[in-house]
Amino acid sequence: MDRQKMTIVTGGCGFIGSNYVRQAIEKGEKVLVFDALTYAGRIENIQEHLSQKVIYQPVFGSLPRRLSIECAECSDSRPAGNDKSIEGLFVEKLFTTDQTEDVLTEWLESESQLLFLLADVSNIEVWQTILPYFQTVIHFAAETHVDRSILSAEPFIFSDVHGTFAILDAIRKSSWKGRLLHVSTDEVYGEAKDEPFTEDSPLQPRNPYSVAKTSADRMVASFVHTYGIDAVIVRPSNNFGPHQYPEKLIPLMTIRALLNQPLPIYGDGLQERDWLFVKDSIAGVRAAVEKGRSGEVYNLGGGSPQKNIDVVKKILSLIGRPESLIKHVKDRPGHDRKYWLDFGKAERELGWKPEADFDQALEETVNWYLANKDWWKTVLEADQEFKAFFQAWYQAGA
Ligand SMILES: NC(=O)c1ccc[n+]([C@@H]2O[C@H](COP(=O)([O-])OP(=O)(O)OC[C@H]3O[C@@H](n4cnc5c(N)ncnc54)[C@H](O)[C@@H]3O)[C@@H](O)[C@H]2O)c1
Repeated sequence: MDRQKMTIVTGGCGFIGSNYVRQAIEKGEKVLVFDALTYAGRIENIQEHLSQKVIYQPVFGSLPRRLSIECAECSDSRPAGNDKSIEGLFVEKLFTTDQTEDVLTEWLESESQLLFLLADVSNIEVWQTILPYFQTVIHFAAETHVDRSILSAEPFIFSDVHGTFAILDAIRKSSWKGRLLHVSTDEVYGEAKDEPFTEDSPLQPRNPYSVAKTSADRMVASFVHTYGIDAVIVRPSNNFGPHQYPEKLIPLMTIRALLNQPLPIYGDGLQERDWLFVKDSIAGVRAAVEKGRSGEVYNLGGGSPQKNIDVVKKILSLIGRPESLIKHVKDRPGHDRKYWLDFGKAERELGWKPEADFDQALEETVNWYLANKDWWKTVLEADQEFKAFFQAWYQAGA
């Protein structure tokens, strides 16, 4: 197997990461998904591509912090205490770096395209063990929801800042020669006014999520500058598409409209986002891996700024529900009114631009939620974290 095609995808069970993984599998690539399965990480997003029923959990080095996974039952065919099952998969624990190396070697020599490592990105020892086997790391893993960062910034500091630092430090310490693609965000620029942001615009993040992402973004640049590692940064705008966790605007509104429930809209609903279809986002990530210059930043904008209220009305119209379902609720504290990116640099240097028509992509997305009720019902009905979050956040509104 060509090492050039072997990639680690952090956050590969999340929204954008799992879309990336599915496409990589279709392209015949070999992918190691590195994910801690937080509330937003859904194993079902990639489960159909796991050819073996085992996922591996390294327990050496610094222990993953927030692995609150309750293993449902022990396997009776394996040594007690060494493996458990999670949603139909065995979780096999690796206690030494040698065990991890053996698992990787066996997998790399096999036909299997997907391997799952259940681990926290902040575990430096795991990174040092696995990096030599791969050529590329695509780093999606992060806490990603602004609203949750307002409730508590701490997990964002751990995952987004310390997690990114851990990857960088492992690269530095192991003198790894591969490429890191860091997925940052348009929110690092803060609120847009009359012009879209270029990569040279000042960074003025204004909420705990975007501050954590800015810190990670600049940490990556500093390791390129200071230690000469090979890393490229992309700053995508608001993504939408299939498999997005139903706390973000488009899936939340779609699902609530399908359920005929009130749609909680922040304030006047006139906040604007530069929507980017997830397929375009992934194409931008791929282009940056292949053609990006180390240390450079590339904006990946959607070219399609839309007001939240207009997006919600389009969703209602696609589903055939009345606009009377819209319920204006108290605005998010410190809410940025607008994000807007100039993606000219990505167009010139990477040959990338967004291809999707917003209305068509929105229809495709809504149709996916219509066709995949089991997927989101699992989250709504079984995920206590989602219930707790929704209650805490919208208790005054919806
Ligand atoms: N969704 C967007 O609109 C958008 C826009 C711009 C940038 N981004 C960035 O893209 C990336 C992916 O976003 P998303 O929307 O797919 O996120 P998501 O919340 O859907 O998924 C995040 C994934 O990261 C994993 N994860 C979180 N903390 C981890 C940790 N400490 N160790 C290992 N895994 C961990 C989760 O389990 C989950 O699978 C993030 O870095 C985000 O900041 C997202």
